[in-house]
Amino acid sequence: MSKADVLLGLQWGDEGKGKIVDVLTPHYDIIARFQGGPNAGHTLEFNGIKHVLHTIPSGIFHPTAINIVGNGVVIDPVIFKKEVDALIALGVDVKSKLLIAKRAHLILPTHRLLDAASEAAKGKNKIGSTLKGIGPTYMDKTGRNGLRVGDIEAPDFKEKYSQLVEKHKQLLAFHQFEYNLSELEPTWFEAIEFLRQLTFVDSEHYLHQAMSTGKKVLAEGAQGSLLDVDFGSYPFVTSSNTICAGACNGLGIAPNRIGNVIGIFKAYCTRVGSGPFPTELNDTTGEQIRQTGREFGSTTGRARRTGWLDLPALKFAVMVNGVTELMMMKADVLSGFDKIGICTHYEVNGKLIDHLPYDISENFVKPVYTFLEGWNQDLTGMNAQNSLPKALIDYILYIEKAVGVPVSVVSVGPDRSQTIHMQH
Ligand code: GDP
Ligand code: IMO
Ligand code: MG
Repeated sequence: MSKADVLLGLQWGDEGKGKIVDVLTPHYDIIARFQGGPNAGHTLEFNGIKHVLHTIPSGIFHPTAINIVGNGVVIDPVIFKKEVDALIALGVDVKSKLLIAKRAHLILPTHRLLDAASEAAKGKNKIGSTLKGIGPTYMDKTGRNGLRVGDIEAPDFKEKYSQLVEKHKQLLAFHQFEYNLSELEPTWFEAIEFLRQLTFVDSEHYLHQAMSTGKKVLAEGAQGSLLDVDFGSYPFVTSSNTICAGACNGLGIAPNRIGNVIGIFKAYCTRVGSGPFPTELNDTTGEQIRQTGREFGSTTGRARRTGWLDLPALKFAVMVNGVTELMMMKADVLSGFDKIGICTHYEVNGKLIDHLPYDISENFVKPVYTFLEGWNQDLTGMNAQNSLPKALIDYILYIEKAVGVPVSVVSVGPDRSQTIHMQH
């Protein structure tokens, strides 16, 4: 019986998970997304193709790997159909390589409306949601009202849909939110018909069976640990468990069947949407990182907030996930800075702490930095560890020592090929 490796983001999302899943897929038989939904945007680049996936696992371009959308994922049929159509247009044989968990929940048009109504009601305290209906769909899941992929095959699917929509209409009326559902429903039901042509599975059995015959599974996370509904900067989080334990819930894999935990982090930090961000740089340095790193959302196009690497936050993420190896992304973006900042501690009530406290808002924590030497070399054409500048190696060693986990990959550009495997 093999174990499943888990790959997840250690920051506020957009660490580069999609790129790495694509790079690692040749080593796996099955890639399985375990949570989140179309709030995610996972970018892959190879042979001049740049592609953004939202719900479909990032192993889909590989010729043989099976890709599973797990029970922990929430699916918007309309977005899902668009994703499949775009892949088919690129010549990908989606239908034979993609399986959908029957237990995955469906995002209804009214979930999206409720997301918008809830954000509007919050005013300046809004979460900065991607407005894909994620929060309301997970609320219906835990509230035991949700519709699941398996329900599509039930004879009373339309009735179930209507019952849930009636509830939603009452909530929308409470919010005095204006909408035109009849404009949205036909496309949604068309997409449901399209979904029917794909293969639905009991993914927990499928995965268990596959692992018992030695098949290799990689679980792909969405968002990042600091957006986890329990351990993130609540309430400025998403509505699912993005941490490693989420792979157990989101796929039906037992905790003792988890193997390596691959933690993806950027060489700096970004955050999109509202909420605390201790190392945020609201200055020309932050702007330089944003421009060089093209830090604009893959899903919403919003400018991402940028800042230096936050070690207390990274250590926290490594702790709650049990990370066994780290992969550092976008090292190329830090070329050209005289000094690279790294937050080693927070100052809280005049005392230095090196762990992540309950409250990380700016009234409570002040980041304390060490500055390391920068480097000027362009890294994007490098493909070997021994060509990396000494200052970058020192930066990596500093992080490894602080966090206690080795960096196994350094990414120096968005393309598949711009990936350096590190020897220790
Ligand atoms: P994900 O959500 O974690 O999959 O990450 P996103 O795809 O949302 O955002 C990462 C962005 O950085 C994408 O545009 C990638 O193409 C790009 N990217 C990934 N790795 C690197 C890298 O090492 N260097 C640079 N410059 N860009 C990268
Ligand atoms: P990937 O998988 C970055 C953020 C939103 C918002 C908060 C809640 O590409 O890394 P939601 O729509 O989930 O209700 O939004 O979470 N967010 C992400 N930020 N990357 C993502 O996914 C995100 N998914 C959600 O910006 O702050
Ligand atoms: Mg993303």
